[in-house]
Amino acid sequence: MAPPRQPWWTGGVLYQAYPRSFADSNGDGIGDLAGLRGRLDYLQWLGVDGIWLNPTFPSPNRDWGYDVSDYRSVHPDLGTIEDLDALIAATGEVGIRILLDLVPAHTSDQHEWFLESRSSRESPRRPWYIWRDGAEEQDSVFGGKAWTYDEPAGQYYHHLFLPEQPDLNWMQPDVRDAFDEILRFWFERGVAGFRIDVVHELVKDPPGQSNRPEIHSVLRRWRALADGYDPERLLLGETWVLDLDELASFYGQADELQLGFNFPFMFAGLDAAALADVVKRTEYVLPAGSLPVWALSNHDVVRFPTRVCDEDDAKVRCALLALLTLRGTSVLYYGDELGMRQVDIPSDRVFDVHGRDGARTPMLWGDAEWRDPWLPVGGNVASVAEQRADPGSVLSFCREAIALRGGRDDLIAGAYTPLAGQAGIWAWRRGEGTAVAINLTDSPANLSLAGDVLLSTKGRDDPSRLEPWEGVVVALT
Ligand code: GLC
Ligand code: CA
Repeated sequence: MAPPRQPWWTGGVLYQAYPRSFADSNGDGIGDLAGLRGRLDYLQWLGVDGIWLNPTFPSPNRDWGYDVSDYRSVHPDLGTIEDLDALIAATGEVGIRILLDLVPAHTSDQHEWFLESRSSRESPRRPWYIWRDGAEEQDSVFGGKAWTYDEPAGQYYHHLFLPEQPDLNWMQPDVRDAFDEILRFWFERGVAGFRIDVVHELVKDPPGQSNRPEIHSVLRRWRALADGYDPERLLLGETWVLDLDELASFYGQADELQLGFNFPFMFAGLDAAALADVVKRTEYVLPAGSLPVWALSNHDVVRFPTRVCDEDDAKVRCALLALLTLRGTSVLYYGDELGMRQVDIPSDRVFDVHGRDGARTPMLWGDAEWRDPWLPVGGNVASVAEQRADPGSVLSFCREAIALRGGRDDLIAGAYTPLAGQAGIWAWRRGEGTAVAINLTDSPANLSLAGDVLLSTKGRDDPSRLEPWEGVVVALT
């Protein structure tokens, strides 16, 4: 019997592109889908398997696309649905998949569902949102109360985020049906899957309790739907929980999400003991046959070179090496591959209600200048053009690590086995024949690995010794 086919994201690298800041095709200062299509050669050269686009739907942008007013269309700033079709077709030709960002927990207050719901207590859409006669004591994530009084029918509605992001009532069967249709709509257009926003808080009845059991029945329903396509579609959840058992719960019995983001890893710092601990426990708690997913940055947090690497490229390379040699799926946030830093945003250029603009600034291409960009260009590292031309750059290193991973079975699917080492050295084996060791300290360290160095963050070739902040991949002999 032929072995079961591995899903395409096994050992794969996903690239998170923030569409407004990735590439601008028409010079209006806002990145767009045509711009992204124009940069496919770059992503192909880098070696990624899929692209996750932050929300591409029409939105009043109170929360930059996470307040959706129409789930079946494209935001005019980013282009048209034909542009998205063209992007799916063009990426398909070069073997890169497109993931969209599904925002099912809440809509925009301008979505027609909410406009109908708020119009009267008798509206057939009234039960689609969460209404109460009195406000309960609860704060929203962005500050302020989670309940807002609404004049027309004299009740309060619930919103975990902004008042302009009313929460859908996922206890309502019609809401579930409506989203089945939205999933099918995009799957049939060739979308390879979804990153799913705030999945851990999807069902709220009553609000205020996270990870309710009903969430898991919704996830099983979506998984059955995703599995009905060939190839099966990917559900990658924003499982923002800090407990690994809870994270594992979103994989179900391997019948819910195929991947759930690992926030304990993102927040472990660049500390050998903490990282080794999170990875080992993650490998232990996930259901058999499931894959972990690792990321260091995203559009909600401070970019990792600033947050955990003191903006020191030696440390950035170590973090990237770890990210790209762990078992599972790895996600690069656009600019991670350049070591792009967090950008200081002058107060008169602030857009985001939650102070996240500094992680969302324009990509540094170097061969074409951004004209009047919506956020200031910063990043404070050499551009793509400069780094591509420099074999010693962070970008060249990152590309080499991706290529090494893609060409070596141990790094694609080999088991993760921790190796004991000196304090401050994080070391593990992948499969039987490959080891990774990273010195996360300021002192040199001896290593007892016999084999050949396949890749070093410092371009060295010595499996017996690591310089401070050096990481290596070794082919064991
Ligand atoms: C998720 C998104 C974030 C957004 C929030 C509300 O956490 O990643 O950007 O603000 O959900 O939708
Ligand atoms: Ca544009």
